[in-house]
Amino acid sequence: MNFISVQNVFFSYSNPEDAQPVKNAVNGVSLEIKKGEFVALLGHNGCGKSTIAKHLNAMLLPDSGKVYVDGDDTSDAEKTYDIRKKVGLVLQNPDNQLVASIVEEDVAFGPENLGIAPDKIRERVDNALKAVDMYDYRKHAPYKLSGGQKQRIAIAGILAMQPECIVLDEPTAMLDPNGRDEVLSTLLKLNKDKNITVVLITHYMDEAVLADRVVVMDDGKILTHGTPDEVFSQVELLKKHRLDVPQSTELAYRLKGCGVKIDKMPLNTSDCVKLLEEVLN
Ligand SMILES: Nc1ncnc2c1ncn2[C@@H]1O[C@H](COP(=O)(O)OP(=O)(O)OP(=O)(O)O)[C@@H](O)[C@H]1O
Ligand SMILES: [Mg+2]
Repeated sequence: MNFISVQNVFFSYSNPEDAQPVKNAVNGVSLEIKKGEFVALLGHNGCGKSTIAKHLNAMLLPDSGKVYVDGDDTSDAEKTYDIRKKVGLVLQNPDNQLVASIVEEDVAFGPENLGIAPDKIRERVDNALKAVDMYDYRKHAPYKLSGGQKQRIAIAGILAMQPECIVLDEPTAMLDPNGRDEVLSTLLKLNKDKNITVVLITHYMDEAVLADRVVVMDDGKILTHGTPDEVFSQVELLKKHRLDVPQSTELAYRLKGCGVKIDKMPLNTSDCVKLLEEVLN
């Protein structure tokens, strides 16, 4: 059984003020996510990524179709609490999820709401802060931290609830390259060391290539999915749907267009350097 199973989900936002029917934000999506997988979800603006993310922890419920988390139907109200405990959602802007004036109080907020005993909360908060490398900042004020640090505190707040899966909706969109690296290496570490399932929504292709699997959405549907190699070798398909490929892949694609023989598209700088060495020799 897969950890998350999205089965033919349709969803429209209903806006009572609008007379005309709204188009489906999610238009028949099926998606399976295994325990321990690191999945990147890509797609241009408005294709339905955030809407899908909110279905993964019962923040939104399908109009039709089903979402199962660890076997539980998200539309079963009795399971909502369990599902939200298992799947934590991190939003784009950390300022919207930091609630307290001291870092460790902020991280404690989630477990407090879960009704965890105070001595256990202490332990969870310390462990969560250590996992994101922010333990030394536990007494600091969140508003004084950098964007990357704030986002890592937001991740610690979710981790303190000990979820099995973290869904992150463009957590690096507001960050500089340093902040992005911090958040990405934190996620990779949580995934590899603690076997936490990660679903990362991103516009950055160099982040997507780090995932086990890449899922590309377009217009409320899944356009293609597979390993980063499989997905980014479909340069033409991605371009047709107004999506980028990693810069190294783009370079190789253009060289190929000029008649250079290339068997395997590079996804990162070091593979690209190797390829260029071969080509130049
Ligand atoms: N609260 C809402 N009310 C009405 N329509 C909405 C609402 N939120 C999103 N939509 C619409 O639903 C569609 C999918 O939106 P969604 O936010 O899921 O896309 P996205 O892929 O996350 O986009 P982005 O990359 O800009 O974050 C879009 O057409 C959007 O305008
Ligand atoms: Mg979005």
